[in-house]
Amino acid sequence: MHRRFVLARRPDGLPQVDDFRLESVPLPTLPAGGLLVRNRFVSVDPGTRGRLGDRETYAQPLALGEVIQAATVGTVEASEHPKFKAGDWVAAAFGWQEWAASDGRGIRVVPDNGLAPSTAIGVLGIPGLTAYFGMLDIGAPQPGETVLVTSAAGAVGSAAGQIAMIRGARVVGVAGGPAKCAWLTGTLGFAGAIDHRAVSDMTAAVAAACPEGVDVLFDNVGNAMIDSVLPLMKRGGRIVVCGQMADYNRPAEQAPGLRNTRAFIGQRLTMRGLVAFDHVRQYPQAWADLTGWIRAGRLKYREDVVEGFEHLPQAFIGLFTGDNFGRRLVHLR
Ligand SMILES: NC(=O)c1ccc[n+]([C@@H]2O[C@H](COP(=O)([O-])OP(=O)(O)OC[C@H]3O[C@@H](n4cnc5c(N)ncnc54)[C@H](OP(=O)(O)O)[C@@H]3O)[C@@H](O)[C@H]2O)c1
Repeated sequence: MHRRFVLARRPDGLPQVDDFRLESVPLPTLPAGGLLVRNRFVSVDPGTRGRLGDRETYAQPLALGEVIQAATVGTVEASEHPKFKAGDWVAAAFGWQEWAASDGRGIRVVPDNGLAPSTAIGVLGIPGLTAYFGMLDIGAPQPGETVLVTSAAGAVGSAAGQIAMIRGARVVGVAGGPAKCAWLTGTLGFAGAIDHRAVSDMTAAVAAACPEGVDVLFDNVGNAMIDSVLPLMKRGGRIVVCGQMADYNRPAEQAPGLRNTRAFIGQRLTMRGLVAFDHVRQYPQAWADLTGWIRAGRLKYREDVVEGFEHLPQAFIGLFTGDNFGRRLVHLR
């Protein structure tokens, strides 16, 4: 037998532990020509929140009773597939379950790059790729420009900020609490950090940290954050709409609105969203760049590993209260 978590109930607001049901089901069997994988690390992702509701976002909602979707890294335990052999580490999207059977589609062998296999679903997985394409394609920071990143100590934000620094920008991060802010300025070398839990006027705090204004806003938080930065955007500024942590737990029509849109005209701003999957053909180049920067010590990352499969729901919910410090993964003992 093995365990899996399925969607028991659609969350209302902040997800609750009993929105998820732990089931014990028979181990999958090796499919003819396929492979059998034991998951070792399972991701928890803010974007999953959108799939727990009944409205289509950029991905289909999960059905009640369906296994929770997530990125996974595991070991091949048996294989009849020519591309995979027992003992290989593989990255896939098997979701919140301990074992999975597959025909091999959508799975890749974790490259032997000297990094921990968990990085394949972290800094070299969707979070790192999102930071890479969002910052380079949309933000396009130039040397000397000012870049503001929100949820900056998180998986996506920390990579996005460092990529902007690699491009020669001055980077300021917004994060929750003194420890995260100290990591941004101390370990990562950001020019400044704003503790959003300690400021009552975000516009004033950003104005103080970015006295010349903001050329690029890479936002992971949502409408209220964007609205508070709009008056400070410089001419030709770019806003990367990457995520909406503060808005995911309410219906879209209840999210705060944008009021300061006049800045778009005066400052000739652009605002664009992204989904990392759209860039799949460019992943090899992104992996090469990200790996090179890690090896050169220019791109640092944190993994926040929660021990024990049974803690998946709480690990996920903690993303919305800032419990995690870096890429949150659950390690299956
Ligand atoms: N577009 C895409 O293709 C794509 C792909 C992956 C991820 N994303 C988005 O990128 C963002 C970051 O994802 P991640 O995996 O890297 O997560 P993360 O930043 O590692 O973790 C989430 C963080 O969000 C912050 N947060 C939670 N609630 C908040 C609130 N109400 N106001 C402000 N900050 C809040 C917390 O940090 P603090 O303690 O600092 O507040 C928390 O630690 C998410 O919005 C996610 O949906 C987008």
